[in-house]
Amino acid sequence: MVDDIAKILISQKAIAAKVKKIAEKITEDFNGKPLTIICLSNGAIIFAADLIRKINSPLQFDIVSVSSYRGDKSTGTVKLDKGLKLCIKNRHIIIVDDILDTGRTLKKVIEEISKEHPAAIHTCVLLNKIARREVEIDADYCGFEIPDYFVVGYGLDYNEAYRNLPFIGILKNEIYQSKK
Ligand code: IMP
Ligand code: MG
Repeated sequence: MVDDIAKILISQKAIAAKVKKIAEKITEDFNGKPLTIICLSNGAIIFAADLIRKINSPLQFDIVSVSSYRGDKSTGTVKLDKGLKLCIKNRHIIIVDDILDTGRTLKKVIEEISKEHPAAIHTCVLLNKIARREVEIDADYCGFEIPDYFVVGYGLDYNEAYRNLPFIGILKNEIYQSKK
C-alpha cells in the first residue's frame, strides 16, 4: 500500500500537531456552549475521531453520510445517504469534513442542517484545495491549504482504498492509470 505512494505531502506528525492546534482553538472559541460535532462520513471519520479527543469541553457527536460520485470524479450532485440521529435545535454545530474541494458537499450539508434550526453552524476541514472551488464557501477551521493534487490517506480514499494510511500522500501516476 505504502509502495503506491509517490510522495508524502503531510506527515503523521504534522497532522497530529495540526489537529491538536485546531482542537485547542475550538475549545477556546466554544467554551461552555452546547456543541455538536457533525462528521461527514466516510472521509472525515479519522480526522473527527482524533479531533474530538483533543477538544476539552462537553460535546455531542453525530455522523452524516454523503456521496457525490462519477467513478472517481465528483458528479456535482451531492446526496445525503444518512441523516442526523441527534436533535441539534439551538445547538452550536461544527461540521467536520476531510477536504474542501469544489465546496458542493459542504454547501449541501449546511443547507440540510440549517433546516433543523441549530443556534449556529461552523465548519472545519483538514485540507483545503482553494484552486478547485466552484461554489463560494470557506471553512472556519482549516488544517492545511494544499495544491490541486488528488490526495489519499488519513481517511481520504482513491476508489475506497488507502483510507488507513497514517499520512496524507500522493499516489504514483501508474496507480491512477491502472485503476481507471
Ligand atoms: P467537494 O464537494 O468537491 O468539496 O468534495 C469534497 C469531497 O470530495 C471530500 O469530502 C472527499 O470525499 C472528496 N475529495 C475531494 N478531493 C479529494 C482528494 O484529493 N482525495 C480524496 N477525496 C477527495
Ligand atoms: Mg468525503
